[in-house]
Amino acid sequence: MLSNTILNSLNEQVNFEFYSSYTYLAMASYAESIDLSGFANFFRIQAKEELDHAMKIYDYIFQKNGVVKLKEIIKPQSDFNSLIDLFERGYKHEQLVTSKIYELADMAFEEKEHATISLLKWFIDEQVEEENNFNTLLKKLRRAEDNPAAIYMIDEELSKRVYTQPTTTI
Ligand code: FEO
Repeated sequence: MLSNTILNSLNEQVNFEFYSSYTYLAMASYAESIDLSGFANFFRIQAKEELDHAMKIYDYIFQKNGVVKLKEIIKPQSDFNSLIDLFERGYKHEQLVTSKIYELADMAFEEKEHATISLLKWFIDEQVEEENNFNTLLKKLRRAEDNPAAIYMIDEELSKRVYTQPTTTI
């Protein structure tokens, strides 16, 4: 049985993961609008992974005999100036996700809620990868600056990203 504090915070995180998905779909749309299908592919997959994150917490809440309360998803940013702007925002967004996961983990440690700690350990590890993906691409884009050949090479690289369906949501 989860305490109300943890249950409410997990519900907030479900909402935030859906918002993250929406945020990345808006970024995919920007990439489509400037004809960079590789970048669009990267963000579409990112959006799907965020839905998986939301569902992982959703399923966990029910396994722990709680109830998911879905809330309104706020409108994502949809105006971007450049690819660098996109990745700066993405990187910042992932840092915000990490801080939310850490807050949840602190709470779970405080309550000695070991099952929730175990769930969050998966998210803590995932965030290392998420932040690194955005930071690495941001550095590549800064090096490429406005060189179209370099941008198209990165686009080609990102077109190869493949979505992997999680084997289990928990
Ligand atoms: Fe669900 Fe990108 O963190």
